[in-house]
Amino acid sequence: MSKKYSRYLVPSLRDARKRINRETIIHKYELDSKYISLGAGKTYFIKTYGCQGNLADSEKIAGILEELGFIKAECEELSDVVIFNTCAIRENAENRVFGELGRTKKYKKDNPDSIICLCGCMAQEEKVIEKVKRLCPHVDIIFGTHNISQLPELLYEVINTSSKVVDVLSYEGDIVEGVPLKRDHSKKAWVNIMYGCDEFCTYCIVPYTRGRERSRLPEDIIAEVKSLALEGYKEVTLLGQNVNSYGRDLDINYTFSNLLTDLHKIDIPRIRFTTSHPKDFDDATIDAFALGGNIMPYLHLPVQSGSSNVLKKMNRKYTREEYLDKVRKLKEKVPNISITTDIIVGFPNETDEEFKETLTLVEECGFEGAYTFIFSPREGTPAATYPDEISEETKKQRLYELNKLVNEGYLKGNKRFEGTIQEVLVDGVSSKSDNVLTGYTPNNKLVNFNGDKSLIGEIVKVKIEKAFSWHLRGKLVD
Ligand code: 5AD
Ligand code: SF4
Repeated sequence: MSKKYSRYLVPSLRDARKRINRETIIHKYELDSKYISLGAGKTYFIKTYGCQGNLADSEKIAGILEELGFIKAECEELSDVVIFNTCAIRENAENRVFGELGRTKKYKKDNPDSIICLCGCMAQEEKVIEKVKRLCPHVDIIFGTHNISQLPELLYEVINTSSKVVDVLSYEGDIVEGVPLKRDHSKKAWVNIMYGCDEFCTYCIVPYTRGRERSRLPEDIIAEVKSLALEGYKEVTLLGQNVNSYGRDLDINYTFSNLLTDLHKIDIPRIRFTTSHPKDFDDATIDAFALGGNIMPYLHLPVQSGSSNVLKKMNRKYTREEYLDKVRKLKEKVPNISITTDIIVGFPNETDEEFKETLTLVEECGFEGAYTFIFSPREGTPAATYPDEISEETKKQRLYELNKLVNEGYLKGNKRFEGTIQEVLVDGVSSKSDNVLTGYTPNNKLVNFNGDKSLIGEIVKVKIEKAFSWHLRGKLVD
């Protein structure tokens, strides 16, 4: 018999669109003592989909679960708690999750007490909640992006009342500091600098699933990076949907360029940040970025389209010329920079000429990589209602043409490092061979080279011998 819901707080994308001008409250995470041994002797497994924001959230979820006594399971099937931390950005990402959720039904046969949870951006959509209720009644807990810190309470309720819960907030959440973290990597760390997004690009569901833009206080971010440096971390990546608007909601006069300048002074070898919005990437930020040193010469700067007309329909708030101008300035001030981007093809009624403008922009910018997507209508966003006469076939053909050009950019971007000596932060051993190590250069290029496992986590010098499209091959320099 299917369990009953002991609470059923469903989201509303309409409510999530509202932006109420109120101060962000900063809470301190505290665990009620009654939850402390909730996970004793039990295991957990988290499957994460989507962006770095979700990866960072999964580290919080893992941190909370381990504080409750859960330990990480070897495999999903045998785990007591399975969590799907999901992405809503495109429809195929959602379909995949439903496929996987369906398969978890059989886990309950072997382990009737197992708890299946869905969280992340998909949980913020009412239509997903409806579909889970209909197709996956074995899912025990659904929580959203704003109430991760409530997980102990939700687990407690489900375990002690043998019920199911849906608890998703649709108003912008606050900031919770001090959530325990179980980081995935011992040398590279994600650092959230802000949450949410206020941009409302017309195709994008993120402002609805992640709420209003809320910046963490500079002192909290600086303290986190300092403590990571002391713990021996070698790289931090600052995270936000639009890091360039950091600080806009704070009542102090402190922006992303100030933050970057302050973090630059900390003794940590590598600082990266993502994602940047071209509109807000101002001259002060370019200057801070150009400080170099521990600020890595790599930038992901999503352009989305090379046509000013399409950019206008996308509500990106910059033109093709303004984007090109930023790239020119960046290359002037950071001569060694590698730039990658995101591009959407087949935005409703994108013409052939408009698409060609994307191709010429890709050439002009010399991108060293790009994530390319076919527009996916997201219910609740304005672009999902725009008339669209372009055939699926044309969209696929455009993606194919674009990818050909983008792949040339990957290879060119890698080729320019042939013969150079690069500092590589060693990530681990290659999946193909135990003697081959892999790591990343300052420009975020993947390098494979022969070396001993003891070098994992170190920054080593590697001479680049050959460039391929997706990686570099090098030799350790003594
Ligand atoms: N369809 C296709 N791609 C999208 N993106 C965001 N929303 C959509 C959508 N509805 C892409 C954008 C963004 C990246 C993270 O995902 O290019 O930068
Ligand atoms: Fe989505 Fe635009 Fe916000 Fe990026 S800036 S998360 S594309 S709305």
